Amino acid sequence: MQNKKIDLIVGARPNFVKCAILYKELKNSGFSVRLIHTGQHYDKSMSGSFFEDLNIPKEDYNLNVGSSTHAKQTAKIMIEYEKLLLENKPDLVIVFGDVNSTIATVLSAAKLHVKTAHVEAGLRSFDKNMPEEINRIATDSITDYLFCPSEDAIENLKKEGHDNEKVFIAGNIMIDTLMAHQKEIDNYNIEEEFNIENNKYVFLTMHRPSNVDNKEKLKNIIDFLNTIAEKYTIIFPIHPRTEKNIHKFQLAEYLSKNIKIIKPVPYLKSIKFIKEAFCVITDSGGIQEESTFLGTRCYTLRENTERPVTISQGTNQLIKPTKENAEKIIREDYKRFYTEIKYWDGKTSQRIVNILKEVL
Ligand code: UD1
Repeated sequence: MQNKKIDLIVGARPNFVKCAILYKELKNSGFSVRLIHTGQHYDKSMSGSFFEDLNIPKEDYNLNVGSSTHAKQTAKIMIEYEKLLLENKPDLVIVFGDVNSTIATVLSAAKLHVKTAHVEAGLRSFDKNMPEEINRIATDSITDYLFCPSEDAIENLKKEGHDNEKVFIAGNIMIDTLMAHQKEIDNYNIEEEFNIENNKYVFLTMHRPSNVDNKEKLKNIIDFLNTIAEKYTIIFPIHPRTEKNIHKFQLAEYLSKNIKIIKPVPYLKSIKFIKEAFCVITDSGGIQEESTFLGTRCYTLRENTERPVTISQGTNQLIKPTKENAEKIIREDYKRFYTEIKYWDGKTSQRIVNILKEVL
């Protein structure tokens, strides 16, 4: 509906990817949108480069909260966002995913009786050791409109007793962004820039506290990677958390020379890396989905995933970082697997906007 005011909240890297197309669709449909960046991620390589790559206009407000402990970061976001809400209340606040910025802003809004919507609602890893799982459950429990990416997410919300009228199937919003940028992605020449050969390198990302915050676990993963690096060059854009810990635990010297550490890469380049890799090794959520969409094998260094369709229908496998598994990976033949997944069709933002036109 025209002239309704919507706050779109972003804070951490995966949020920027998810907001890009929805922001444009909302504007094109006549909504008045304020883009609010909490400042959870602030390095250019973790934030600004994503805005540039995805043509997202500069945010209207930046809460500049920066890094801290979970409680401090969440609290700072709540306090700063509450100030904005008190000055000017929107008709709806839209949040994405499962990061601290998601739960913090929804809490501030709900307490002031501002309506809220959660994009990527209903995903569950059933592992409360992950901060993201706590953020997901808490966010969904107080949100007015729950936009689910898949049928399994709808089922999870039903089991938790959510009112059917609040729950909508919307689809996978990351795929909207990927499909919209396919041509630009294809134009990138990473082979020359990084001196690698397509299909003959491994793309690695790793930043989960459960993998990188404990010295023994991190050393074990490095041993696993070193075995893979005996056959394949590993391209490793390193997250600031992982970089700090590798140095803190004095593990840099253990890394094989065939593991090329680079700065975090912008969106289009990272998708190109995933697309052309022999395989991907990750602990990210979104990369499990992007690998499936692009047909690239994905090995996820986690004990569970909140995105089960990437395993049941896609290219994803959960693995433990053992020498045996590393040897198995490098014995595999190169192969692509393409699959079509329901609601991964580039129309998720449109579906969300259509629902909002009805309900607001
Ligand atoms: C956050 C999300 C995680 C998401 C990830 C994507 C939560 C609880 N976690 O994890 O779900 O997968 O983002 O990257 O919200 N740092 C910088 N520069 C930055 C940002 C962070 O140096 O721009 C460093 C800081 O030392 C900080 C650490 O990285 O303490 C972790 O950042 P934080 O935002 O707390 O969590 P992430 O690990 O990035």
